[in-house]
Amino acid sequence: MVDLFDNTLSVLETISDPILEAHGVSLVVKRDDLIDPEVSGNKWRKLKFNVLQGVQYKNEGILTFGGAYSNHLVATAAACEKARLRSVGIVRGDELNAQSNETLSRCHELGMQLHFVSREEYHLRNERFYHEELLQEYQNLWVVPEGGANYWGMIGCQEMNREIQVSFDRIVVAQGTTTTSCGVLMGLEDAQKISVIPVLKGFDSLAEMRQRFGKSGIDSETTDQLLSKVDVLDSFHFGGYAKYTDELLQFISDFYEKHQIRLDHVYTGKAMFALWEQILEGRYDGERIVFVHTGGLQGLNGLEIDVREKLFKG
Ligand SMILES: Cc1ncc(COP(=O)(O)O)c(C=O)c1O
Repeated sequence: MVDLFDNTLSVLETISDPILEAHGVSLVVKRDDLIDPEVSGNKWRKLKFNVLQGVQYKNEGILTFGGAYSNHLVATAAACEKARLRSVGIVRGDELNAQSNETLSRCHELGMQLHFVSREEYHLRNERFYHEELLQEYQNLWVVPEGGANYWGMIGCQEMNREIQVSFDRIVVAQGTTTTSCGVLMGLEDAQKISVIPVLKGFDSLAEMRQRFGKSGIDSETTDQLLSKVDVLDSFHFGGYAKYTDELLQFISDFYEKHQIRLDHVYTGKAMFALWEQILEGRYDGERIVFVHTGGLQGLNGLEIDVREKLFKG
């Protein structure tokens, strides 16, 4: 268990670039992607307290949900394997099997029991009665929602701020379910801001964050205060979840060549692209900025192999 919660590899890396200098911006990357090859980034943070909850309540493991390319499924499988817990993944798509792609076969290899369900059944994933039904078949498991999006996931992300031992004005986070950004936001000091980059098209970040705080029992006055620190950059979804353009892939490849940091096309590539645009437009002049590398490189498996190889040729 001790190994699983060691995140000493998540260093702060300073980025040097003439563009940053020209705009008086200092940029450091919080390298959560380095924590572990599989339980990395925000997956690690969202799973930490969920695994502990699972253990504390004498459950035998974790049951969770995900799509065919879910980073969260692999991370859960790997975390459970390390913690010697059972893992069950409820997977969207009853036409799939454990050999359908690299993500699913890795989950299988790590000992995750994969349970494929139709899209209609998957719609029930957040319903309590459905959990009860699943728990009759898979007993003594701690149920974690898709993407690790629950209170404990958020609390795990909040911890990150304490590890950032430099002063900063703004922190930048890619957004899916909002769990990570809400957690990070809760840990900010008064004058600090957060820029969030939703990767879904038509996503109402503020409404979604408000809902997440509400579910965690945070009152509306505190929520208003917290949300006043948020800058939503919502025109960087590149068409929607896991969609991408040549411009995005080129950016990811150039960024790697210049700074030797890999980004993915689903989350961190879009977030860094958005940040870079703001800097170029002079919107963040003079600021000290932290970019959270939330991991997710496993998501690159969704790309054709030749595209993947071209990305990080440097
Ligand atoms: C690599 C990566 N970055 C960012 C996010 C977004 O995090 P959240 O869903 O907590 O908003 C995810 C999704 O979990 C992710 O896999």
